[in-house]
Amino acid sequence: MDYLNINKEAWDKRTKVHVGSKFYDQQAFEAGKSSLNTIELEQVGNVEGKKLLHLQCHFGQDTLSWARQGAIVTGVDLSTEAIDEANKLKLAVGLEATFVADDIYQFGQKSKAQYDIVFTSYGVLCWLPDLKQWATIIANALVTGGEFHLVEFHAFNDLLDGYSYFPHCEPDIEDEGTYTENCDGTKSKMVTWAHSLSEVVTALISAGLSIEVFEEHPYSPYDCFDNMEQVSGQGYQMLHKGQQVPLLYSIKARKNG
Ligand SMILES: C[S@@+](CC[C@H](N)C(=O)[O-])C[C@H]1O[C@@H](n2cnc3c(N)ncnc32)[C@H](O)[C@@H]1O
Repeated sequence: MDYLNINKEAWDKRTKVHVGSKFYDQQAFEAGKSSLNTIELEQVGNVEGKKLLHLQCHFGQDTLSWARQGAIVTGVDLSTEAIDEANKLKLAVGLEATFVADDIYQFGQKSKAQYDIVFTSYGVLCWLPDLKQWATIIANALVTGGEFHLVEFHAFNDLLDGYSYFPHCEPDIEDEGTYTENCDGTKSKMVTWAHSLSEVVTALISAGLSIEVFEEHPYSPYDCFDNMEQVSGQGYQMLHKGQQVPLLYSIKARKNG
């Protein structure tokens, strides 16, 4: 099964819809609004003058938001449509950035560059079959002392939705729409893999990274699952039998000498 082409086609189709969505609000972004959320802003901290690699950057809003804060940014994404849009957005907002259309595994094998920060967030791991290889790419891309930052949707929510929490070799192959409000007609085949939290943590440790922060969060900035409710000043929560479901987790890891 050519999972890369299947997912690339699906993400090309989704990107065309996302750029015109209220969810991504390009107009506000172009007018100066950052697409980054408090969780990643507080975790990553000052990026001024730092070389930052953004894996699975979609059409570049987050990458360019880091550039607005002074980072020297490179974004990588499988979708050529997303990278074309990222390059258009870069010109529209007049920022410097390098965008690369590639599978992260293939990028990792080719690239010799090293970065102070590797960043990736919100809906990235399920597209990747092999987290050990993913973590090795991150470790190789970091300078000694460099930091890796992940903010990801919590796999517990997938379990409540009827998907496996524990990883298994076979992927889920399904027709899926997208998470933006203008999602009509976006259904296409997608190939995803389940990854438990322990699998993510173990992959990073095995690649030689030291985990400095590991947090789970009951609130999400995104209203992109069923049955979420807004809590003033906090974001969105989901209750299961009256208790808060963990919606996100975040990890900061360092490459030590
Ligand atoms: C949910 S999006 C990330 C969203 C991002 N946080 C945002 O909102 O802008 C997932 C991205 O992963 C990319 N992707 C999927 N598989 C990939 C792979 N093997 N290599 C590189 N990018 C990949 C998709 O093209 C898509 O842009």
